[in-house]
Amino acid sequence: MGRQVLVTGGTGYIGSHTVVELQAVGFDVVIIDDLSNSSADVVDKIEKISGIRPAFEVFNLLDSVKLEAFFEKYSKIEAIIHFAAFKAVGESVAKPLAYYRNNLVSLMNILDCMSKYKVPNLVFSSSCTVYGQPDQLPVTENTPKKDAESPYGNTKAISEEVLRDVVKVTPDIKVIALRYFNPIGAHPSALIGELPSGIPNNLVPFITQTAAGIRKQLSIFGDDYNTPDGSCVRDYINVVDLAKAHVVAINRLLNNSNADRYEFFNVGTGTGASVLEVVKTFEEATGVKVNYKIVARRPGDIEKIYADTTIANTVLGWKAETSLHDTLLSAWNWEKKIRNIE
Ligand code: WQD
Repeated sequence: MGRQVLVTGGTGYIGSHTVVELQAVGFDVVIIDDLSNSSADVVDKIEKISGIRPAFEVFNLLDSVKLEAFFEKYSKIEAIIHFAAFKAVGESVAKPLAYYRNNLVSLMNILDCMSKYKVPNLVFSSSCTVYGQPDQLPVTENTPKKDAESPYGNTKAISEEVLRDVVKVTPDIKVIALRYFNPIGAHPSALIGELPSGIPNNLVPFITQTAAGIRKQLSIFGDDYNTPDGSCVRDYINVVDLAKAHVVAINRLLNNSNADRYEFFNVGTGTGASVLEVVKTFEEATGVKVNYKIVARRPGDIEKIYADTTIANTVLGWKAETSLHDTLLSAWNWEKKIRNIE
């Protein structure tokens, strides 16, 4: 078995895709997940894809007693990828304390255990939300961070500060934070993908559920923005490409090739796409019309953001490879699979 990596939140959307990519290059993966936003059968699907069943422990990272017992049991872990967090923007506005407690205390418990059990490497799941609405585009890693639009976004910004301050006084650990733009799509096998519970907040699952007839109509939140077609612009990144960025980051940490002990990278495609362009590209890729209407802007939405990926491409040595067309097709194939649509 290869070098052992812990993936927290490993049955989640990005976590499960990352487990598959880690196993594909020989890592021995252990998952911790509390199943608050995913299901245990994702482990079966991972095994079906990779042929290897990852070790899997079910508990919440707020339980520091269970977390210490975990590290007593799994004493060969060399690196951690920390995905486990609450991530619904709207919900975080309604339940700020739950979000600050879960997302921040979980990270602190992980950091405590890294020191206690001598685990030197951490990849942290961060977000472009730390940039707010940038004054200049594309955003680089040095674009000034702005006040987060939501408690969810603020937990990511605060987590980055916690990591910076802990690394400063903990010479034995190294951290890479990956600032995701908008993850979309699904594994080519259509065995794993995004499974939002209830009405999707995010654009692409709402599109695929509308195309599948589960939702009557997509509401496009505003077409009066200062963008080419008036709808908001985002940097939509394929989830498998994003998963591969985590493997590159883990190798960078394990091979001690990172200059600083705390690095952060924008993980996007470098290309912006508007909501209307995503809808059009989905229709072209799938041949399925999307019923939509333009409605009022959604509070908290920023107008446009997309990444400058120069540092990720040159320093990290990673680049997104999958087109928006193929990514949206993978999302549709996944939707059809889980709804038994031919
Ligand atoms: C994208 C665009 C909407 C739904 C959030 C988080 C971010 C990350 C990804 C966790 C916007 C428009 C959406 C709909 C629409 N999450 N839209 N109709 O808000 O850019 O980012 O999710 O890591 O941290 O902030 O993603 O998919 O919700 O919206 O018109 O039914 O699609 O207005 O312009 P967002 P999104």
